[in-house]
Amino acid sequence: MQGTEIQVAKKAIYPGSFDPITNGHVNIIQRGKKIFDKIIVGVLDNPKKSPLFTTEERVDLICKTFEGDSAIEVVTFSGLLVDFASQNKAEVVIRGLRAISDFEYEFQMALMNRKLSSEIETLFMMPSLKYSFLSSNLVKEVFQLGGCVKDLVPTVVEEAMKSKFMNLNK
Ligand code: PNS
Repeated sequence: MQGTEIQVAKKAIYPGSFDPITNGHVNIIQRGKKIFDKIIVGVLDNPKKSPLFTTEERVDLICKTFEGDSAIEVVTFSGLLVDFASQNKAEVVIRGLRAISDFEYEFQMALMNRKLSSEIETLFMMPSLKYSFLSSNLVKEVFQLGGCVKDLVPTVVEEAMKSKFMNLNK
């Protein structure tokens, strides 16, 4: 039969705290782009957490990292991830899996999200091996203790960390 094919927009949500975005996150987004037409990066706005970067700053750093890339949209969200996904008409949530240690928490979260909404599928993706040790928390710790984070975060993030820590130490 001709002309009956339904075109489905391939859109995925990539949620996280992104405090700040690291090259590991960037690597997952780049891999996700091979599968999806659009990736909506969902930045969690959680007033209970006290992040280094404000929600606006985290969004801004991700936007700058992917400047000019129309396949990437950056949006903040609060409340349930499954609600955010359905508001954005996305049925897939991407999560990065670095090591077995990530698995238990991610497995729990994926199954809870499935219980909350059977429409949402979680897709786990592995970053390059060179980023498998990387986390936002470790990057912040290393930077704060004077270590080099050059290959670990986008340049805009490194610059933002320099000025953030300079202001915090004033
Ligand atoms: O980068 P993170 O901190 O590992 O991201 C965790 C995130 C934002 C994906 C998770 O905390 C989340 O989805 N929060 C939204 C609230 C929610 O839906 N909770 C139930 C999920 S099981």
